[in-house]
Amino acid sequence: MPNLLQLEGPHRGVLRITLHRPEALNALNTALLGELAGVLADAGRDDAIRAVVLTGSRRAFAAGADINEMAERDLVGMLDDPRQRHWAAIARFSKPIVAAINGFTLGGGCELAMHADIRIAGEDAKFGQPEINLGIMPGAGGTQRLVRAVGQALATQMVLTGEPISARRALEAGLISEITQPELTVERATAIAERIAEKAPLAVRLAKEALHKALDTDLATGLRFERHAFTVLAGTADREEGIKAFQEKRRAQFTGR
Ligand code: CAA
Repeated sequence: MPNLLQLEGPHRGVLRITLHRPEALNALNTALLGELAGVLADAGRDDAIRAVVLTGSRRAFAAGADINEMAERDLVGMLDDPRQRHWAAIARFSKPIVAAINGFTLGGGCELAMHADIRIAGEDAKFGQPEINLGIMPGAGGTQRLVRAVGQALATQMVLTGEPISARRALEAGLISEITQPELTVERATAIAERIAEKAPLAVRLAKEALHKALDTDLATGLRFERHAFTVLAGTADREEGIKAFQEKRRAQFTGR
């Protein structure tokens, strides 16, 4: 049983993962990232889990990489940094992650939030990439995913000044899709994840992959991927069930086949 994460469920197809390093505002040390990568790898293989809610505490989703741990690594240590492997495993997770975000979401914390497919935040959440204040820069996708999420101008301002933005600004910029009262964030994220968990798992998986392609590739390549994925789904029992349920005016029962 991991101890830097709290796990609940799966309930109605949703596993809730809570980052739990309260003494360090959920700073993402190697152990925590490793546990998260391991839990997601297991969740990827578990048919009972169809979506994940990822959250932190009311005070912090996560305040970044663990600065004290980072201080002990020199250049060679950074080249061999095991965290790269954990980040890659988190990015590879094939099921949807809905992040329920409150409080400080800084540095690696903001980068972790950007690994989620959907982000819901409480109105007092703060998003930032303050690495520049430490004489470094984002290292887990911050310069790339933030530009794609909020555009060049705001991302550049955030990364070069290190100054955070409010949840309201994050909503306007497209970094999050909804804002809630802080005490309702997890509830709302869970409702969204449960809604997704009711859908056909193969369709959800391929749709997630296609949506990621939109950020990775040129339009023609992305459209080709979409067409292939759409065609593959024509061979699934769940497509047959979905269409039949519509025609019979009943709720579809998807099996993941
Ligand atoms: N790493 C390690 N410990 C951290 C931490 C971090 N990123 N952030 C907070 N903590 C610890 C603090 O050291 C403190 O511990 P002690 O009680 O033992 O002193 C505890 O968490 C509570 O923090 P504060 O007392 O500082 O709380 P505050 O409310 O006064 O300030 C804060 C909150 C503004 C978030 C402040 O803690 C802060 O600036 N944290 C660092 C944020 C940061 O720079 N993040 C980027 C890290 S680099 C990175 O993430 C690289 C990458 O992309 C891979």
